[in-house]
Amino acid sequence: MFAMKARLFLLVFAVAAILPAASLRELADAHGILIGAAVNPALLADQAYADTLARDFNLVVAENVMKFGPTRPARDRYEFTAADQLVDFAQSHNMKVRGHNFVWHQQMPRWLTSGTFSSAEVAGILQDQMRAMLSHFKGKVFAWDVVNEAVDPDPPHGLRKTFWLDKLGPDYLDKAFRWAREADPDVKLFYNDYDADGMNAKSDAVYNLVRGLKARGVPIDGVGLQMHVTLQSAPTAEHLAANIRRLAALGLDVHITEMDVRLATPAKPEDLVVQGKVYGTIVATCALTPGCKVVLTWGVNDAHSWIPGFHKGFGDALLFDAQSQPKPARTAIEVALKLIP
Ligand code: XIL
Repeated sequence: MFAMKARLFLLVFAVAAILPAASLRELADAHGILIGAAVNPALLADQAYADTLARDFNLVVAENVMKFGPTRPARDRYEFTAADQLVDFAQSHNMKVRGHNFVWHQQMPRWLTSGTFSSAEVAGILQDQMRAMLSHFKGKVFAWDVVNEAVDPDPPHGLRKTFWLDKLGPDYLDKAFRWAREADPDVKLFYNDYDADGMNAKSDAVYNLVRGLKARGVPIDGVGLQMHVTLQSAPTAEHLAANIRRLAALGLDVHITEMDVRLATPAKPEDLVVQGKVYGTIVATCALTPGCKVVLTWGVNDAHSWIPGFHKGFGDALLFDAQSQPKPARTAIEVALKLIP
């Protein structure tokens, strides 16, 4: 079974060998989608890292430096230096910037989580955060994850119990999106979550959540599908397309926001080939399904991926290896974008 699949897929690499090489960003552009990567601005000093980014990607997102904790060291102090460095790099390489994020239960400042603020104070602090970020990055960041990972990963996939739910109440998503829209009438506002990429109970819950937001007139423009997957858990093209289509039918854009395909390490050569198949399938499905506008990978190369630190025994999840050399996954995306109409 695997042998046959692998042989079929090797055809893809044979095709790659005979077609002229092209950058992923040019190919994505030709299909009307953006291809991006999550960036740690401290690594831009690494020439191989920066060259890879500028060559193959036309979009960046901050892996960490635009989150609440890093941008708000104290209630009355904001820190944008690293984020500005990323925006400068993007602008000088003609890349767009995606913003991540305002409301999340992780990487929050300790002064906030261990403070004794009233609900009204927390509401004010969040509004200040969104106003400060949206005005500082106005016109530079085209879309923001307003709320991240609010759906409980456990059935029945209600709202996750978080600081935000606790302080602001069950309509906190409505509030957050409305406050964001008040602060910037133009930027695109997204809900972002994981394990809700294909068709499953959690993606049903995300769908119902955003359908409710739309029904109440809450200003949401899109849904981010994180796409942190394994070879086994990756959605099929059919299930991904079906999920994109139902979100698009609500009038929402879809961004694949944090893709990585983690492998058991050390990775077997055949797993790297199957990983390429997953990347090629997901990117092609995005390019072919109206409503899907963006694919981002969560990192540039395997040397700096979050995966080994957060999923023990896994790694090798990105398009470039630890030396920034292209992997079969990068080739597979190139070929997929060349072959689809
Ligand atoms: C991760 C970063 O990659 C790590 O460097 C950091 O320590 C923790 O957060 N979902 C998200 C991202 O929305 O913000 C997370 O990023 C990965 C999971």
